[in-house]
Amino acid sequence: MAEIERTLSIVKPDAVSKGATGEILRRFEEAGLQIVALKKLCLTEEQARGFYAVHRDRPFYRDLVKFMTSGPVVASVLEGAGAVARNRELMGPTDSGRAPPGTIRGDFGTDIERNAVHGSDGPETARVEIAFFFNAMEIQAAVEARAD
Ligand code: RTP
Ligand code: MG
Repeated sequence: MAEIERTLSIVKPDAVSKGATGEILRRFEEAGLQIVALKKLCLTEEQARGFYAVHRDRPFYRDLVKFMTSGPVVASVLEGAGAVARNRELMGPTDSGRAPPGTIRGDFGTDIERNAVHGSDGPETARVEIAFFFNAMEIQAAVEARAD
């Protein structure tokens, strides 16, 4: 049995604007991933640049920042057995044009940039990305509510 992990998910502006947020969150829950924190927000340019700083030298960086600031996003912390890999399975490959039907990117994305969702690519990245969006109190409140 895989270890219990947490991962950061973002429903990107393309999927939020087409009204797919509910269906995407439903898929996470159906797959056994619990939503332990959740918020809708608009990223500032500075925040988007910081979040995707690993890609700052890539040719697509400017477009990516423009896309991620083009409308609201829905960020969540997902928890469950092998959550990082499980979420990436549900998402499908980066390029929505190649992602199979039944994956989130296959069903709701358009191309390699407008690909509906982000998911952390490892447990350590997940820790950094979760802390980027949520403070300890916001996550703790959800965990305590579940224990009641
Ligand atoms: P993400 O970080 O968003 O979960 O996506 P990923 O790991 O599957 O892909 P990554 O290589 O980390 O790329 C981050 C995001 O940049 C956009 N992208 N555009 N135009 C392009 O060639 C290109 N390549 C990547 C996508 O929005 C991708 O999710
Ligand atoms: Mg990535």
